[in-house]
Amino acid sequence: MKPEANYARLTLIGLVLTLLVIISLGIYWNAEEDRLAHAAREFTNERISRGRTIYNEQCVSCHGAQGEGGVGPALNNRTVLKNTLDSVFFSVIRSGVPSTQMPAWSVDFGGPLTDEDVRDVVAFIRAWEPTAPEIAPVVFTPDAARGALLFSGTCAVCHGENGAGTDKAPKLNDVARLNSLDDDWYRGVIRSGRPAKGMPTWGTVLSPNQVEDLIALIDAWREGAQVQPNFSITNLLENAIFSLGQDDPASAALQVERALTVASGASAEVLRNAAAQLASGDNAGALETLTALQEQWPMGDPTSGAAVYSTYCTPCHGSQGEGGIGVALNPNPFVQANTNAQMVEFLLAGRPGTAMAGFKGRLDEGQLADVIAFLRLWQP
Ligand code: HEC
Ligand code: HEC
Ligand code: HEC
Repeated sequence: MKPEANYARLTLIGLVLTLLVIISLGIYWNAEEDRLAHAAREFTNERISRGRTIYNEQCVSCHGAQGEGGVGPALNNRTVLKNTLDSVFFSVIRSGVPSTQMPAWSVDFGGPLTDEDVRDVVAFIRAWEPTAPEIAPVVFTPDAARGALLFSGTCAVCHGENGAGTDKAPKLNDVARLNSLDDDWYRGVIRSGRPAKGMPTWGTVLSPNQVEDLIALIDAWREGAQVQPNFSITNLLENAIFSLGQDDPASAALQVERALTVASGASAEVLRNAAAQLASGDNAGALETLTALQEQWPMGDPTSGAAVYSTYCTPCHGSQGEGGIGVALNPNPFVQANTNAQMVEFLLAGRPGTAMAGFKGRLDEGQLADVIAFLRLWQP
């Protein structure tokens, strides 16, 4: 054989071998990709399943067993899921939505969930997306009075009542300055804050709707109007507890002071204790006192409640709470799962689409507190 032919043969063998290596690497890579994709799916499935457990324990009572909504908005909703990034869900769930019933869940805000837990529950909610029904969004109308309530609980501690300014932060209700800047400018400052100058970043703490309520308040100030917040002890307690969760005892003390101007009887006594605890720097003690009060708020009288019950509830729920047209209330898991304040809200609103009509305009808060105290006697 000529040396050239030998050389050509060797080259050919070399080429074939190289080809074989390339092909086998390709097969390996493919297998590796499959393996990684499989591992990622497994990982996501585990996340979703852990998230489901958390959701069932913590979220069902307000957002519904299938995410259909209730006290809280529907989460199993194509529009919400399409328009909300995981990072937004993550931050809303961590910090809650102040001055609403949506609690803060992160351990950083005094809640029970770690960041990993929150990611799990976000993955669970996200898994609804492919099958989520289209639910028309609730039309939201920004409201200056709601903004004023939020402002008094969250901003007034630095910016003063009605935005009049304090030594901690500038006046906001200055008509000339308000007229020189537009709503978008205010949205931007409120969302991003100026952390270096002592103005906190609110975009990660407040919901977009809450920012719009604040903008409505700013619009009212621009017109020179004064907007009175509609104080209620329920709101003030919620704000005070939220402020303590944010490590902001000064703001909490302001809320307690306000609540004292409207509270009476046993609850005023408890509020005075909380104020004393805050004054002495015992923030943990104050948080405990206020949380206990919130759990029992409003405190009613079961004897008067029995009379309210027999007039207004017996026809549907039975004189012994055994049920009839309405469900049994003696005992009843919904009553047990809700605080007194949540029960008041429920009884005022009723359950649309069922025979359970709301009592707004028929029973006042005192009567509702009484009937709830009466229903509690039936719960183990
Ligand atoms: C006590 C009632 C309550 C519980 C419990 C609750 N939520 Fe909420 N949630 C609400 C309310 C009320 C809102 C609406 C707040 C507002 O007005 O912006 C809300 C809002 C939300 C939003 C924002 C939805 C949107 O469309 O902007 C998410 C996400 C959410 N909740 C997730 C959760 C998760 C996850 C849990 C359980 C870990 C949970 N919630 C438990 C009451 C609750
Ligand atoms: C911890 C104190 C603090 C709280 C709470 C606070 N702010 Fe501020 N805010 C400041 C300070 C300080 C400035 C001035 C920053 C600077 O000098 O640039 C400011 C500036 C602003 C400005 C810009 C004012 C202007 O004319 O330049 C707006 C708007 C504003 N805050 C809105 C709010 C709203 C709304 C809230 C409640 C959600 C709030 N702030 C809560 C401290 C606070
Ligand atoms: C006209 C009939 C009717 C009257 C009057 C009525 N209810 Fe109901 N109630 C119902 C029905 C029906 C339901 C169940 C709604 C549903 O299908 O979810 C219900 C549900 C409830 C629930 C929620 C229970 C659960 O497990 O979800 C509570 C609590 C309740 N009612 C309390 C009261 C109280 C307190 C009164 C009186 C102040 C009252 N109801 C008056 C018909 C009535």
